[in-house]
Amino acid sequence: MLCNAGGTHYVVDEMCSHEDYSLYLGCIKDGKIKCSLHGSYFDLVTGQPTCDPADEPIKTYPVKVEAGQVWVKA
Ligand code: FES
Repeated sequence: MLCNAGGTHYVVDEMCSHEDYSLYLGCIKDGKIKCSLHGSYFDLVTGQPTCDPADEPIKTYPVKVEAGQVWVKA
């Protein structure tokens, strides 16, 4: 999932690590994405959860933007 946090792009797995629930509906705040089901936040750089109930990270991918195109290393 491609995220734009204040103009900086991040790519992370879409599914929350707590239960299989899409992070697509979550909000982004202070470099973290919130799971809208139980409220865990994940750091968009490291994928690490920053609060319960999730205790496993989500996968993150290197991303760069060049000439208006987004490149992701999967
Ligand atoms: S499914 Fe995301 S925190 Fe529970």
